[in-house]
Amino acid sequence: MADDVNITRVNLAERSYDIEIGSGNLAGLAAFLRQRTKSSHAVIVTDTNVDALYADRLGDELTEHGWEVHLLVAEAGEASKCADIAIDLWETMLDEGTDRQSIVLAIGGGVVGDLAGFVAATFARGLQFFQIPTTLLAQVDSSVGGKVGINLPGAKNMVGAFWQPEGVLIDVEVLTTLPDREYRAGLAEVVKYGVILDAQFFASLEADVDAINGKDPSALQNIIQRCCRLKAVVVEADERETSGLRAVLNYGHTYAHAFEAAGNYGDMLHGEAVSIGMMCAARLARIMERIDDEFVTRQFNLLEALKLPTETPGYDGEELVALMRRDKKVDDGQLRFVLPTKMGHVELVKDVHVEDVLASLVS
Ligand code: NAD
Ligand code: GLY
Repeated sequence: MADDVNITRVNLAERSYDIEIGSGNLAGLAAFLRQRTKSSHAVIVTDTNVDALYADRLGDELTEHGWEVHLLVAEAGEASKCADIAIDLWETMLDEGTDRQSIVLAIGGGVVGDLAGFVAATFARGLQFFQIPTTLLAQVDSSVGGKVGINLPGAKNMVGAFWQPEGVLIDVEVLTTLPDREYRAGLAEVVKYGVILDAQFFASLEADVDAINGKDPSALQNIIQRCCRLKAVVVEADERETSGLRAVLNYGHTYAHAFEAAGNYGDMLHGEAVSIGMMCAARLARIMERIDDEFVTRQFNLLEALKLPTETPGYDGEELVALMRRDKKVDDGQLRFVLPTKMGHVELVKDVHVEDVLASLVS
């Protein structure tokens, strides 16, 4: 069994909040909320899969604790992170009497978190918002740090806000129902934290591959705690990604976003694209003589051991570079990449030659 519930604090002055991480602690949702809000009206936003598994039951439990609850269910999948669904949610919330005293709960993966957070940030100029992430990716990344938003056609995450939650409640038990492919996609972001910020953590992942592949709850709780702490430190230092520090979280993502766009967001999961993107970024860093072969091999071996894809898909290289130029991280038309200099340390690098990027795509 996992250890006791752990609390990780995100220190952001009046926007500070706790991330509670445990096993079986979803049962304490009502108490978690009560400690952090005076509201008694909760709008739960979830998706069709998570509704049946958790959200409907959690809504009933809140009702039993005296809350007025409205449950809004979006179709599962990235397509729901769009303006039409946001409008549906705003209108339904208005019809159901949502006001500035209401709170929004996101119960689901990153799609639900980003969508619900965006609706919370904008309805009545901003409602209190809580994250109850149910995918590994959402537990280690998207539920922490306040980036919320929706996609425009052909432009992912293009409309959004920084809107910090009032609290994040993470229960590792929900990962038992998560499809294996989604679980592994989340592991790509876990590996990312080791590469960009914490060589010791990377080594512990190498040592714990069997426990991770076996979805050992205690190992998972420790991993999620470490990732949330690492993300909290970055967000505390650069909440709105203005100093460049927060951009380190985008290691592998310039490539990943291009792969996702080239596949019309249907070929691979975000975490799978990040896994391949990290391999491309490592090769680019090697070509630019920032790291040695051993680094590339270590990262490859860990990703392979965690059964993540590492091979570049067969999209046209020039098309991928054109897609990278549309990425939000492009600065004055220059391609920018987050590249390692050693395990546990990365830098934001400009002035990258296109021919090196094309060479880095070859696995
Ligand atoms: P997702 O939200 O689509 O969830 C993946 C699938 O798992 C869905 O079908 C969902 O219904 C299902 N699911 C969720 N929890 C489950 C559970 N416990 N058991 C069974 N099924 C479950 O995908 P995701 O990978 O969680 O999130 C991807 C999104 O996150 C993307 O839109 C990405 O842009 C966004 N993201 C945001 C940030 C941020 O900082 N805001 C960071 C990374 C990613
Ligand atoms: N997932 C990137 C960020 O939160 O900044």
